[in-house]
Order: sequence, then C-alpha cells, then structure tokens
Amino acid sequence: MERKKITIPDLLDKKKNKKPITALTAYDFPSASIIDEAGFDMIIIGDSVAMVVLGLENTLAVTVDDMLYHSKAVARGAKHAFLVGDMPFMSYQVSVEEALRNAGRFVKEGNCDAVKLEGASGVIKQVEAIVKAGIPVMGHIGLTPQNATQLGGFKVQGKTSASAKKIINDAILLEQAGCFSVILECVPDEISKIITSKVSIPTIGIGAGADCDGQVLVTHDVLGFYKKFTPKFAKKYADISLDIKNAVEQFKKEVEDKKFPGKENTFHIDEKELKKIKNPSL
Ligand code: KIV
Repeated sequence: MERKKITIPDLLDKKKNKKPITALTAYDFPSASIIDEAGFDMIIIGDSVAMVVLGLENTLAVTVDDMLYHSKAVARGAKHAFLVGDMPFMSYQVSVEEALRNAGRFVKEGNCDAVKLEGASGVIKQVEAIVKAGIPVMGHIGLTPQNATQLGGFKVQGKTSASAKKIINDAILLEQAGCFSVILECVPDEISKIITSKVSIPTIGIGAGADCDGQVLVTHDVLGFYKKFTPKFAKKYADISLDIKNAVEQFKKEVEDKKFPGKENTFHIDEKELKKIKNPSL
C-alpha cells in the first residue's frame, strides 16, 4: 500500500489517540531513505550534524548553508516522514526579519516541512512571525544545546521547582505562539508528564521520559556510529562503528592478500579484440 506523506493533523491525531510519534535525526540521503522506509513519522535534520557528522565540539559553528546542504539530501531520500529543519545558532536570534528569511530558506531551498528553533520567551516574536508567514515551527526547550554554556553544560534541566515551572511556562508560551509541536530535551519525566497534559501540541522527548507524545533520538547514537560520547538517555540498537571497522579491515586484508578484486569484480575485453591489440597486424 502506498504510504502517504505525514502531516501536522496526523501528528495531532497521534497525540489525541495516545499513539506514540516516532522521530529520528538524519543528515544524508541513504540514512533518510532507510528511516523513511522504516515508517518514521518525523525526521529532524538536527544541528547535531555539527558533532556527529562534522566532528565539532558543539553545535555552534554550523551555518544555514550547511544545514540546507544536509536538508536537501535528506529530502531526496524521505518521501513520507514530516521533515523538520533545525535552525542553527545565530540564524534566528539577531532579529525577527533574519529569522523569517532563514526559516523561508529551509522550506524553499531545503525542502523542509517545518523549522525548529531553541528557546521560548527570548525568541517568541520570531516564532510568531515565522508561523504567521505560514511556516510550521517546532519549539525546543529544556536543555537547549545552542546555549549550553549559559546552562552550565549539557545538563538535565528543570530539577528545581523554579526551573521546572519555567520549562512548563515555556511550553505553554510556545503553544500560544503557534508552535505545532515542542521538543523536551533532558527534562525529568515528571515535568514532561505535566507539560504533555497541559499543552494540546505533541511533546517529543529526548531524555525526557516515557510520558511524552513521541520520542526522538540522534540516529548516530541509536546506531553506535558516534564513538566519542553516548548520552545516558540514548539507547544503542547497533554497533555500526564495529561493523564498519570489520568491513574496511577485511577489504584492506583482501587487497594486501591479492584476493580482491576477484573475477566477479573484474571487466573483460572480447578475446578477438584483445588479439588485435596484442598483434596489431591482424
Ligand atoms: O540537533 C538535534 O539533533 C536535535 C535533536 C533534539 C533532534 O535538536
């Protein structure tokens, strides 16, 4: 049966019917195609690309152009999942106008269905303007990696009543500003549960417990493809790094042992044609 493209009403229906929303990150064509074929509801082209693909220390250095490059590749592979492009650091903070222009690029050039940006009260005017322009916006609160330095590092947020209340209010503020969904990152599950019951938009958790309306993880964590660090909240379902290491080592050995290329990997010229080369007088 032909699968249809996931829409915002589909995501809202899932929340209403208590059916978990499934999401993963992707940054390239092959992984996006596989995730899409697996039937995920949503793919986020996350600025985590900076760390897990580009090998940077944090997410701050990636640009809109970098993100669009990856978004385009993901969009070529994903035909059904709802695609969310992550607006990078300083692409929306400076002014409403700049935020709007950059959000537009994610849709027009990056082929995304929506954009995601971090924060709440500090960027609420930007959220409102982007939504008003017709571009769906996903919020992102709790641990917001783009200002991890201000937060004292990559730490769980909302552990005191004051900071938990702020996260709850931020979620409500984002819903009122028109966000269609909100990511809750590294938030105690009791707080995610309160937020999920208070807002009518789907909450998508990453390190935010089982009571969110959906779950997202960074694909490289799920696959064991980022060896530097795996967060406590992530679950490794494969060890792709080991599989790749074994495969490339085997290739190297077969080249050294002259076992590769085999006959089946080799092209041949017709015997008659070969003779003409070896004996030009023929
Ligand atoms: O950059 C990222 O991978 C994210 C995840 C929370 C989806 O923002």
